[in-house]
Amino acid sequence: MGSRLQEFLRTASARVERTLATACNEQHPATTLFSAMEYAALGPGKRLRPALVYACAEAIRGEDIASRCDEAAAALECIHAYSLVHDDLPAMDDDDLRRGRPTCHIQYDEATAILAGDALQTQAFELLAGAALDSDLKVTLIAELARASGARGMVGGQAIDMAAVDRALTLAQLEQMHRYKTGALISASARIGALIGGASAPQLTAITRYAESIGLAFQVQDDILDVTADTETLGKAQGADAARNKPTYVSLLGLDGARAKADELYREATQALAELGGHTEVLQQLADYIVHRDH
Ligand code: IPE
Ligand code: IPE
Ligand code: MG
Ligand code: MG
Ligand code: MG
Repeated sequence: MGSRLQEFLRTASARVERTLATACNEQHPATTLFSAMEYAALGPGKRLRPALVYACAEAIRGEDIASRCDEAAAALECIHAYSLVHDDLPAMDDDDLRRGRPTCHIQYDEATAILAGDALQTQAFELLAGAALDSDLKVTLIAELARASGARGMVGGQAIDMAAVDRALTLAQLEQMHRYKTGALISASARIGALIGGASAPQLTAITRYAESIGLAFQVQDDILDVTADTETLGKAQGADAARNKPTYVSLLGLDGARAKADELYREATQALAELGGHTEVLQQLADYIVHRDH
């Protein structure tokens, strides 16, 4: 990873962790709930979605406007953290390890994990609604996040994923599932950042093309790592997809086919950035990182 990207990710992580820590740390009668929310939201994750919010806002504006993005970046990470807590539940992927630690329902209990996920989801919208941004812009951002998170986005993709266990999907069906369950939230991160940066319609189109490519590439790489990485590096159980008989890019195309798909998507993302023009260095490095990451 280039040193510019490393520094960018470090700063983005520190900012979003500060906002999340404040939001999850409250004197409240439901202390265990807040503790479980904090556990899930502040575990050692890559904070890729917040980084995209900051990077897209900066790419469009041409200057650092991170302070305008803090709540939106934290909102994206709250939705993501909630999706992981529910994804790991026994009724879904039934995983014990996440980000190198026991999953939320193992560390606490199932009811607490379900509630912590629910609460992180609504906290995302509370954060966005409270941001110091123009009201019309906030309504647009809230609609973007709601759509990308729900039945027409992440949750819809998770439903397709659950229905696909033990079944063969066509490549088109697999791609659709990935675009919903993972791509939608990654696209929303980029679009929300771009909108805060004041993107024009053509700029938003280019950012969306970039984000749709890296969003799909992200899940293709997740499928590859499930086969090639080890549990310690991943921080989650290696081989979980095969163990649950999940259709993945690797199961359909083989490892080389999946890698070729990730490379093709990387080229598409690069083309979209060429269309966007301007300050795209960090976005280019982020695309590179997503396709070549080891966990
Ligand atoms: C894992 O996401 C779940 C998927 C959508 C594939 P990340 O790989 O971004 O997880 P963290 O946040 O870094 O733990
Ligand atoms: C998760 O996909 C997508 C989400 C919406 C959380 P996976 O089930 O492949 O994610 P991991 O591999 O458990 O992180
Ligand atoms: Mg899953
Ligand atoms: Mg899973
Ligand atoms: Mg996976």
